[in-house]
Amino acid sequence: MYILYYMKERSPKYKIKKAKINNARGIELLSNIIGSGTKKDKELARSIFKTFNGNFLNATTKELLKIKGLNKDKVNRVIASIELGKRLFQKRNGNGLSTFVKEKAVQYSLFGPLYGERQNVPLEYIDRIIPVKRYTPPSGYFYIQQRRYIGNKFALIDFIKNIIRENIGEYKSVCDIFAGTGVVGYYLNKKNVRIISNELLYSNYLALYAFLSPEPYDEKKIKEIIKYLNGLRPTEDNYVSENFGDRYFIMENARKIGAIREEIEKLDLSLKEKAILITSLLYAMDKVANTVGHYDAYREKMDMTKPLYLLVPYIEQKKNGDNEIYNLDANQLIRKIECDILYIDPPYNSRQYSDAYHLLENIARWEKPELYGKAKKFDRSKLKSQYNLKSAPQSFRDLIENANCKHILFSYNNMGNKGNQRSNARISDEEIINILSSRGEVTIFERKFKPFTTGRSKIENHTERIFWCEVKR
Ligand SMILES: C[S@@+](CC[C@H](N)C(=O)[O-])C[C@H]1O[C@@H](n2cnc3c(N)ncnc32)[C@H](O)[C@@H]1O
Repeated sequence: MYILYYMKERSPKYKIKKAKINNARGIELLSNIIGSGTKKDKELARSIFKTFNGNFLNATTKELLKIKGLNKDKVNRVIASIELGKRLFQKRNGNGLSTFVKEKAVQYSLFGPLYGERQNVPLEYIDRIIPVKRYTPPSGYFYIQQRRYIGNKFALIDFIKNIIRENIGEYKSVCDIFAGTGVVGYYLNKKNVRIISNELLYSNYLALYAFLSPEPYDEKKIKEIIKYLNGLRPTEDNYVSENFGDRYFIMENARKIGAIREEIEKLDLSLKEKAILITSLLYAMDKVANTVGHYDAYREKMDMTKPLYLLVPYIEQKKNGDNEIYNLDANQLIRKIECDILYIDPPYNSRQYSDAYHLLENIARWEKPELYGKAKKFDRSKLKSQYNLKSAPQSFRDLIENANCKHILFSYNNMGNKGNQRSNARISDEEIINILSSRGEVTIFERKFKPFTTGRSKIENHTERIFWCEVKR
């Protein structure tokens, strides 16, 4: 078993574009790399710049160690940042740095570690290039990751891709069996790769179907309907305004949500078209909800007054080839499928996703059930996940025993007993290793991570781990 440390990937490429490159900025950055940007660190940074006449791109460990105040640890950080800068440049500009970029590369090289953990990292495991495209959809569209969802792994996509590239190589099929928002399957999707994406919640299933199913659809028709739905101005109350108006949404938005959902139900649509329109509505609702990111409760003070506005999901249909989308319990589906890579990302603790996202589920299903309590939830007893219960280890064992795949990648954080009672992990590390080892050798990849939580538990030293099992037995 090995533990490898990865640096935290942010989007330096994006930031680099905006940053002003000058010596003062360079000194500031360097002082943050070697220390924490204190006056003393800045003095040291200045003396490094001076020693190398402002360009230490080819500085060696030996030369740096000669500078008073620089110890091995600090020198390693500087060397790592230089190395990283060179790589970024080689990737962007091909091999060999031009004269123009050479000088700037020093400063560029300094950015990397600012966004990373300051520790000794094997450089071959670093890949911090995140295409800017992922953050800025074309006008009128939204990306799959543009919603708030507890435990979503968008920030880990490059970490996961790295693990695959370094250890698994080419793949022909991936099953994202607890898909949530679906971002992992979406970003591992390629033209000749089959993505099997599955979710217990119907609201998520519809989004997966919209973004990943191969069913053809007419985008022009979708755009026209969205335009029409955006133009609705209902004045009468409906199921949504009566139950959620002045609570989760301002009255105007609540009426509009109800009217749009009712209209979608009436239109003559294929499953793909219906999934796209409902997904558009659910993402738009998320943008105007008077909540902290989930629907366990609404905020007492209503200060979310933005009008609801539907956008078009950014779907890469050409890549969807023979993808398969399911709305099943993972333990049921596992018995029916086979794949190269099985990505498993179950809930970690006692908190049911059907509680946190009841409102979206309610709108997606549109059965207009009776609602209970202040939070206005419907009866979710049929949507409870085994993975939030004490019996989670048994379910996990059953899942692994029945997996028909070449590789298993299992995401599970290390919250252990650090948070409050609700945050405690349901499956212990011993159980995970024990269960996975029954199918092959296990390697753990670990990285510090700032999770999307909703503020109640203060968790320090949070690390996100991915267990890789190469299936042999
Ligand atoms: C940690 S989240 C997954 C997040 C996802 N990887 C993402 O990036 O958005 C776990 C998901 O598993 C789903 N889930 C829970 N129990 C399930 C089960 N038995 N079968 C399928 N999905 C389940 C939950 O609804 C939730 O969306």
